Formats: sequence, C-alpha cells, structure tokens
Amino acid sequence: MPQPDDNADLGARVDAAVTAALAAIEAATTTAELQAAKAAHNGQGSALAALNGSLRDIAPEDRKAAGQVIGAGRGRVAEAIAARQGELAAAEEAAQLEAERVDVTALPRLRTAGGRHPLTMLVDEMSDVFVGMGWEVAEGPELEHEWYNFDALNVDPDHPARGESDTFYVAPMDRHMVLRTQTSPVQARSMLSRELPLYIVSPGRVYRTDDIDATHLPVFTQIEGLAVDKGITMAHLRGTLEHLARTMFGEEAKIRLRPNYFPFTEPSAEMDVWHPGARGGARWIEWGGCGMVNPNVLRAAGIDPDVYTGFAFGMGIERTLQFRYQLDDMRDMIEGDVRFTEQFGMVI
Ligand code: DAH
Repeated sequence: MPQPDDNADLGARVDAAVTAALAAIEAATTTAELQAAKAAHNGQGSALAALNGSLRDIAPEDRKAAGQVIGAGRGRVAEAIAARQGELAAAEEAAQLEAERVDVTALPRLRTAGGRHPLTMLVDEMSDVFVGMGWEVAEGPELEHEWYNFDALNVDPDHPARGESDTFYVAPMDRHMVLRTQTSPVQARSMLSRELPLYIVSPGRVYRTDDIDATHLPVFTQIEGLAVDKGITMAHLRGTLEHLARTMFGEEAKIRLRPNYFPFTEPSAEMDVWHPGARGGARWIEWGGCGMVNPNVLRAAGIDPDVYTGFAFGMGIERTLQFRYQLDDMRDMIEGDVRFTEQFGMVI
C-alpha cells in the first residue's frame, strides 16, 4: 500500500524521469533519434508511463494530486520534444537545401569543337604541297582488283609480296580482289582514266597482314605520287621530293636517293630525308620509295614509253607523322584518345 509520504517520493521520481527524458531529447541530433528518445521516455514502457500506471494503486483522495504531478512532468517532456523537433527539422531542411544547392552563376561546361586527326591533317598538308604545284588529288578503292594492285604494276605472279602472308585476299578467291597493299594501284587507274600529261598524288589507306607494334600497323596510310609527261627525268623526281621535304621538315631538309628495286620503277630508289629536327639530332631517315616509271607499267596503261616518261614515289603517312613529331608508338595514332589528337591542335 502507498505510504503517506508517497506524494513527495512520487515528485522525486517524476523529476528524475523528466530529467533523464530532457537529457535524451537534448542529445538527439536527428529527428529519428528524437523519435527514439520520445518512445523511450514518454511512450509505453517508459518510466513516466509506469508512474502513470501506478496511479491505480494510490488512494483515491491522493490520486488527483499525484495525477497532476505526473501530468505536469509528461507535459514538460512533450514540450521539450516539440521544441527539439522544430529545431531538428529546421536544421535538416537547411542541410538538404545546402546539399541541393545549384550555383546558377557557374559557367556551363564548354563543349569542345572536336578536331581532325593528325593523320588526316598531315595527308592534307602533304597533298596541298602538290596541289600548290598544279597537281591533282586522285582516289582509288581500298578493295582493289589484284590486277591494279600487282599485275598492272609489273609485279610478277610469284612475287613474294603477293603471298597470303603479306596480302589480305578477299573471298571468293576467283574474283581476285585484295585489300590494296599500297596506293600504287591508283597509278594504273589514273593513267587509264585521265588525260596526259598527268600529275597526281593519291593519299589513302592500305592493308597488310603485319602484326601491330610500335612501328607497324596492319592498316595504315600512304601517299603516292605520279608524274607522266614528255621529257620527265630523274632530276624532276629529285627536285619535287626535295621541295616536299623542305616544306615538311624545314629549309635545312634535303633528300638522298639510294638504289633499290621496285617492280614498277626502273631505276628505283629508296628515298631518305635529312631531318633537322630528328630525335637525338639531325640525321637521315628512310622516308619512302621512288623511281622512274617502268616502261612496262606505262605500256599496261596504254602509254607509249618512247613518247612519255614518268616518275613515281610513295611513302607512309604514319611513319612521317612519327618522325616529324618524335612519337614513340604508332599505336597511339589509332586508339582514338582525344588527348593524343589534341596535341596537334584543333584545326577544323
Ligand atoms: N608502293 C611502295 C610500297 O608500298 C612504295 C613505292 C615505291 C611507291 C616506289 C612508288 C614507287 O610509287 O615508285 O612500299
């Protein structure tokens, strides 16, 4: 049975419960924590709820006073919860607004205009040297007939370059189609389709069954040159290539011809360029092949070699790009990484 001094005792117990509740409410830093504090200190099973339940055991005449003491305690707790709820909700809203803040003064991300690949730019630059001298740019197909790629160029049926170890043959075999291994077939196509005299350059993609490494690509680019006219001599070839070399590598550049063999030229030469800006200092670099057009090639195109003579040359564009810019690895040219391309400028 409750004792006479139970009311005083009750007051102390309510105070203790309220103090604990206020501390928990104050300690809550999120609305979720506050909900937990509310359940623990004012909900079912809380100390205050238990005190409330004990009213049943209090003598009816004391019950009202005891009820007021407990009610006042619960009222303080409820008030504190409401106040803290307001604070926390405001803080959470402020944090959310901050997180979702949009800087309306920020600059938009600039869209870069994109650019052309350095190989494309180099092809254009080299072609322009010739267009500036009145030459024309000629094109030919990459899927080429064996006759243009080899026979018309005086390449023997059993020349090693015709083997499947170098050349991509395209099925069905009886159609005799290849992925052209050089831009030289455009020589034959141009001689057959254009008027003489003929001055053409022909840049384009070529294919060989090479393994890919730092200096070889199975798909690469060449530029071919062909001049056919009356009275063309090797001096014209030399002068033309020297002009090209100077435009590409500076006034100090020069060329050197070393005897070589190509079926489509006679005499044939390997052309080296003196590259003043080469890595490790100026030096000779193998640049391409050239020579006087073989009379058999002129004849295959219906041109009389007693009336007309010609010179021809061909070189690799990737190789030219590589030593012009001292690039370590040709594979960078085909990976499509804009960080590589951007270094050559964004000429459009
Ligand atoms: N077609 C030759 C090659 O791919 C390069 C070449 C050599 C082209 C001599 C020519 C030339 O026009 O006269 O290796």
